[in-house]
Amino acid sequence: MKRAWWIALMLPGLASATPKNWEVFKTTYGTAESSKIFASGCNVCHVEAKFPGRNSYGAALEEKSDNAAAITAANLHAIESIDSDGDKFSNGQEIQADFLPGDPTSHPAGEPKAPPATTSGGTTDRPEAAASSELIPLHSFHPAVVHFPIALFLFGILLEFWGMRGRPEARLAAKYSLIGGAAATLLTIPTGLAVFLRSGFKWEGTPLLHFILAIAATALMIGVSVWRMKEEPTSKLYWALLLLTGALVAAAGHFGGVMVYGA
Ligand code: HEC
Repeated sequence: MKRAWWIALMLPGLASATPKNWEVFKTTYGTAESSKIFASGCNVCHVEAKFPGRNSYGAALEEKSDNAAAITAANLHAIESIDSDGDKFSNGQEIQADFLPGDPTSHPAGEPKAPPATTSGGTTDRPEAAASSELIPLHSFHPAVVHFPIALFLFGILLEFWGMRGRPEARLAAKYSLIGGAAATLLTIPTGLAVFLRSGFKWEGTPLLHFILAIAATALMIGVSVWRMKEEPTSKLYWALLLLTGALVAAAGHFGGVMVYGA
């Protein structure tokens, strides 16, 4: 008897707080009563067998809602471009076509027109299904090649200054190190762009800063290298340019590190 009382007391609480998410969903998308999504109800976001466990779509929403009492329309819109269940169709595409965004077996026929992003930007967690179906890993080998321009170019600067103090062989070594560093950007820029586009980073904040600094650093590295190929510069302008370029390379590397390891 006592237990029945507790359940009776808790029911209104449950009914008012959490299934509200269903109401928010229906209102946001104007879900028709005849639709497949409507028939799935709570299981658009929950796993029937492990209720109220969240499926991949529900979990993505929960993360966006910051465990607030209920999700908002903004939370729903925020994960529309993501493919939570890893079936290659974004949540938005699936909801529009009346398929379940948290069920990898439910999706429109054929191939998606535009492949969706697999993460919500800045985060590295993503559905396993999407990870294993990709031939080229999401990092696109950017982390493997990104150290070459940084290390070679900065080492080249060091050698230039060493060579300036009466060590001609250091200046010769510096030349090849600087040119090698600039040449390595041929690998880092395309792989970096690939990560940007494939992992759904937004063009804002740290990723944007990293991108701008990397492009600026690359332009200057190439400029310095071309100059260095032609002659062995001794002007103040050259040393200033060398230091500026080194600072940009270091700054680009720093913000790249922040993107991966956090601030
Ligand atoms: C649009 C997605 C969505 C739908 C549809 C939905 N829920 Fe939820 N539900 C969530 C999320 C996300 C949470 C986690 C708490 C939060 O962020 O609101 C949650 C949490 C809950 C919880 C709390 C359990 C816990 O572990 O904290 C219960 C109970 C629940 N939902 C019941 C329901 C019922 C019943 C329905 C159907 C009427 C429903 N939900 C429909 C997204 C949804």
